Amino acid sequence: MSEVPNITLNDDNSIPQLGFGVFQIESEDTAEAVSEALEIGYRHIDTAEMYGNEKEVGEAIHASGLDRSEVFVTSKLNNGFHEPDAAREAFDRTLSDLGFDYVDLFLIHWPLPTLYGGDFVSTWKTLEEFHADGRTRSIGVSNFQIEHLERLASQTDTVPAVNQIEVHPYLTNDAVRAYGREHGIATEAWSPIAQGGVLDDPTITQIAEKIGKTEAQVVLRWHLQRSDIVFPKSVTPSRMRENFELFDFELGTDDMDAISALDRGEDGRTGPNPDTFAYVPG
Ligand SMILES: NC(=O)c1ccc[n+]([C@@H]2O[C@H](COP(=O)([O-])OP(=O)(O)OC[C@H]3O[C@@H](n4cnc5c(N)ncnc54)[C@H](OP(=O)(O)O)[C@@H]3O)[C@@H](O)[C@H]2O)c1
Repeated sequence: MSEVPNITLNDDNSIPQLGFGVFQIESEDTAEAVSEALEIGYRHIDTAEMYGNEKEVGEAIHASGLDRSEVFVTSKLNNGFHEPDAAREAFDRTLSDLGFDYVDLFLIHWPLPTLYGGDFVSTWKTLEEFHADGRTRSIGVSNFQIEHLERLASQTDTVPAVNQIEVHPYLTNDAVRAYGREHGIATEAWSPIAQGGVLDDPTITQIAEKIGKTEAQVVLRWHLQRSDIVFPKSVTPSRMRENFELFDFELGTDDMDAISALDRGEDGRTGPNPDTFAYVPG
């Protein structure tokens, strides 16, 4: 079994650097996918209220026979619930749906700077309550830009443990990552293979052929060597295994640099821009 390294967060909690993401897995398929992932050896599951599958994630973890403490579970506050009372109710529901009395990490899913008067600061202070009462071991944010992080730094007491942002070879997002590194915020890279969109890039294909690994393994290894946390999603067991086999090879500096040079800046984004994203599920 692969030996997944742990990363120590700024609150001294540990997170497995490689996990399993469940975005866009239908709720009826989620328990089976998570069970398979746990069987392969994944011990970190990234879900969200928005994904509609927290219940099935919890069911699979309960059914696995693993101790709760052996699996790192992240969930996220949905966009409709930024106001403090709504956030409190939403977090209660998340715990109840998962069937746990705590999560390892709870995130504000999107900053929504154009909604709620842009007041994600009071949302963050509400997450501080959940942290203080022990119902989440760590708290963090997702899709926060530098100015959003600066606002939290100037108006609140807790530095986010992580910032989960879009990162892959076409959007290296290095300015936000550098801010995180300087301020003790670990970067989690979402859509690490750009939902498959980087896998047929000739630079990546050439490196994969040269070292005898798959394109996905090359890209995921690039993330790990940049010290980011990743949780690729797949419902295909062979890919889930492939994505877990990342610890018996290393990319050289030239290959690392060649992949980083694929950055297209904002044009490389596959998801929404956090500065303008204002989607609230109905
Ligand atoms: N915070 C946020 O706003 C945010 C946004 C997006 C994602 N996320 C998190 O990040 C996780 C990962 O991102 P993602 O799901 O968007 O995309 P991803 O992991 O970059 O890519 C998933 C896609 O790639 C395919 N795939 C997976 N492994 C493969 C392999 N070895 N070879 C070829 N194709 C492969 C999957 O297909 P099959 O499933 O058909 O095998 C799926 O279509 C999510 O599940 C979620 O936990 C967070």
